[in-house]
Amino acid sequence: MANEANNFAELVSHCKEYGYIFQSSEIYDGLAAVYDYGQNGAQLKKNIRDEWWKSMTQLHENIVGIDAAIFMHPTTWKASGHVDNFSDPMIDNKDSKKRYRVDHLIEGFADELKAKGEKEAKEADEILAAMDALLAKDDYAGLKKLIEDNKITCSVSKTCNWTDVRLFNLMFKTEFGAVAAENPDENIVYLRPETAQGIFVNFLNVQKTGRMKIPFGIAQTGKAFRNEIVARQFIFRMREFEQMEMQFFVRPGTQMDWYNYWKEERKKWHESIGIPAGKLRYHNHVKLAHYADAALDIEFEFPFGWKELEGIHSRTDFDLKQHQEYSKKKIQYFDNDLKEDGKPYGNYTPYVVETSVGLDRLFLTILSLAYAEEKWTKEDGSEDSRVVLRIPAKIAPTKLAILPLVKKDGLPEIAKELMNQCKTAFHCFYEEKDAIGKRYRRMDAIGTPFCVTIDHQTKEDNTVTIRYRDSMQQERVTLDEVKNLVQKNIS
Ligand code: GAP
Repeated sequence: MANEANNFAELVSHCKEYGYIFQSSEIYDGLAAVYDYGQNGAQLKKNIRDEWWKSMTQLHENIVGIDAAIFMHPTTWKASGHVDNFSDPMIDNKDSKKRYRVDHLIEGFADELKAKGEKEAKEADEILAAMDALLAKDDYAGLKKLIEDNKITCSVSKTCNWTDVRLFNLMFKTEFGAVAAENPDENIVYLRPETAQGIFVNFLNVQKTGRMKIPFGIAQTGKAFRNEIVARQFIFRMREFEQMEMQFFVRPGTQMDWYNYWKEERKKWHESIGIPAGKLRYHNHVKLAHYADAALDIEFEFPFGWKELEGIHSRTDFDLKQHQEYSKKKIQYFDNDLKEDGKPYGNYTPYVVETSVGLDRLFLTILSLAYAEEKWTKEDGSEDSRVVLRIPAKIAPTKLAILPLVKKDGLPEIAKELMNQCKTAFHCFYEEKDAIGKRYRRMDAIGTPFCVTIDHQTKEDNTVTIRYRDSMQQERVTLDEVKNLVQKNIS
């Protein structure tokens, strides 16, 4: 199975070995929870991002895309509530000094309980329900008691010697400009913890210049930064990551209809890029963020359990109203169409439904589904095996490998001609080294869906062997069919 937990460690090392993901600044022993994408990873990430961008800004006529800066005026984060509220309850172990996010500590304990048996699984569910209730009430003393009552220990010191639960802000700060200010706080800027605020502060710019009519959406992809305390599970929780967010601006009172619409739409989109429906589920939030009147996660069954992949939030008019108040600029929409609906027309602050998916998490989702270690018995009775990335062809980093059987007899020339024909349409890879079987295995390992071999017969009848990654079937097609065949399969 591609997604078994015990394959996760293999998947992580496969990502490194085949140019998908490297630890950031590895030569200096790395930087915790920060990763670099290699030559195949960067291309796969781009392909996923492009699919999302296309589905939002091309397939929806009322959604446009922007690219706002990472640095924003510091008041943005005061207005959005992030300076005061963007914090997680943390607890420190007094013996090891290790800090934990309270929910992660309790969830980790519950996972261990669940693995023990049915009775313990029931107990774990009760603990999780108690945690949800305490989080919803911001009852930090109650959370500490829950940890102590269940004798939840630190993984390092193995003791239950805990501090009180405290809030810890997740935003990274840095200094702006070369001139030292009298008050050092004046120079502070934050690395954005979400891309959404770049959309809110540009609401009027986009609405006016694009003559957008409500309902409409603004989409953007880009880096976000959070000083996560427990950064773990590879690229699942990172300190620097990429989000793909869309804010959909609607009439007040219609937000729940749009919330339900986007909830369905987004799940369907995930299925359209190859995620099986059975591996996705909704999880309604018990404790709502400070800006939301409804929220849910679309969860995916990762090799380490069901976890959030995308958030759908009904953000009310909170953000636009806050920016209006802090900037002292009127941020409203004049709705001509209300008159047609028999209502007095006029200005209002739109409500917002947000869809927010982590690109890195989606990348991990796709790779964990794609990774497979396969073994089989050949016709002659001998064993064979391979590691393959069954990435859907339309997002695979390389679509076609062009492989002359030998480095002579005019075969490389024919192969290069095919390469020139195809490379303007999709990403191709040319290789003439090593035995053909070895080259096929390498292409399986990086997830290339099609390989074409040019051999001596090509010179006689203009045909080549095309090999399909998933079935390993091969067939003979004419040279001039190759481009169309691949294009048909990746569109
Ligand atoms: N604008 C709303 C927002 O940021 P969120 O639920 O905090 O909501 C949205 O984040 C998505 O961003 C998550 O569903 C997840 O996919 C991704 N994400 C959040 N924190 C992340 C992290 N530390 N590393 C990787 N992805 C993260």
